[in-house]
Amino acid sequence: MKNRLVYMIVTVMLCTVLLAGCGKSIDFRGSGKDNSLSSQGPYSGTSVGVCIYQLSDNFMSLFCDELVNYLISQGFSKDNIIVYGSSNDQAVQLSQVEELISRKVDVLIVNPVNSSVAASITELAVLGGIPLVYINREPGAEEESYWEQYDLDVTYVGCDARQSGIYQGELLLDMGQDVLDINKDGKIQYYMIEGAPENIDAGYRTMYSLSTLQNAGLEMDCLLDEVGNWDMTTANLITAKGIAEGRIPEVVIANNDAMAIGAINAFLAAGYMPGRDVFVVGVDALPTALEKVSQGQMLGTVFNDYISQSHNAADAAIRYLNSEKNEHYIGCEYIKVDASNADNIYSIVSAASAGAAK
Ligand code: GAL
Ligand code: CA
Repeated sequence: MKNRLVYMIVTVMLCTVLLAGCGKSIDFRGSGKDNSLSSQGPYSGTSVGVCIYQLSDNFMSLFCDELVNYLISQGFSKDNIIVYGSSNDQAVQLSQVEELISRKVDVLIVNPVNSSVAASITELAVLGGIPLVYINREPGAEEESYWEQYDLDVTYVGCDARQSGIYQGELLLDMGQDVLDINKDGKIQYYMIEGAPENIDAGYRTMYSLSTLQNAGLEMDCLLDEVGNWDMTTANLITAKGIAEGRIPEVVIANNDAMAIGAINAFLAAGYMPGRDVFVVGVDALPTALEKVSQGQMLGTVFNDYISQSHNAADAAIRYLNSEKNEHYIGCEYIKVDASNADNIYSIVSAASAGAAK
């Protein structure tokens, strides 16, 4: 690890000296670029490379649309925003990053397939002299400490997933143990449907939703704990199987809304009424989930504010392009959503998607 950084730093210093010697701008970040196209917007001659771990992910597709839309509103040209979906494959993602660097994008915005691929992506970007903004999937603490230590133009924009787990626990606690304990055995029978293995959001949401309930004195009785890979269909199958095996929960805690909706559909198909026979919580505030919260089929969700996150990511990229610095961690807040504010959050997200559709 140490060698990796020494190598990186020496190479970057060498590049800087060589470029300065050529009399060219040593700024890879756009200021030395031909701005003849800039009549349509201040950044229309500047290119942005975006890599999303998986474009079919419901939440990341909303995030990505908002990101592109916001970049355009800030003066970037749509044609210069190159978006790749990485099919949840780190080798694919690495080759995409390499390609974007060889195409000389001015800045990279990356949603890493996993935290372990981040070290290689950082290395490629730093060696290429391209600033880098990670989104949504946080690289590890060790990786982030290197950005800090070597003052690299690399940052992460995201939320603290512990907060979303705590909010899920609180949404359930707000109902009261008497309501949740449908079979009155003094325990809460539950399913936990987890996102992806080794994913920080999944780990924290699982841990903190549960500990919030347990710390409040509820005895939690796990009937099923499985990985649904953030995916609606997978969660639907997991839940249908649990029901068919006679494991009937009082509560379903899903690490995201897509999986919560998958679970709800399985209960409906089996003749149960979510909101009465089982209480389901998710995270993200997908439009369909907000509708279900308003209608009472879903107890609540947590708004994973992709609007603020995507804008913060683009703003961080813009600061790098203007040779300014960023903090190495740019945080956002989650918002707890129940029937009282679901309509309000719905108007916020639908206004954003109306903008994205323009
Ligand atoms: C989470 C989000 C999930 C999924 C995941 C991908 O923040 O809640 O729905 O998109 O990121 O890593
Ligand atoms: Ca019970």
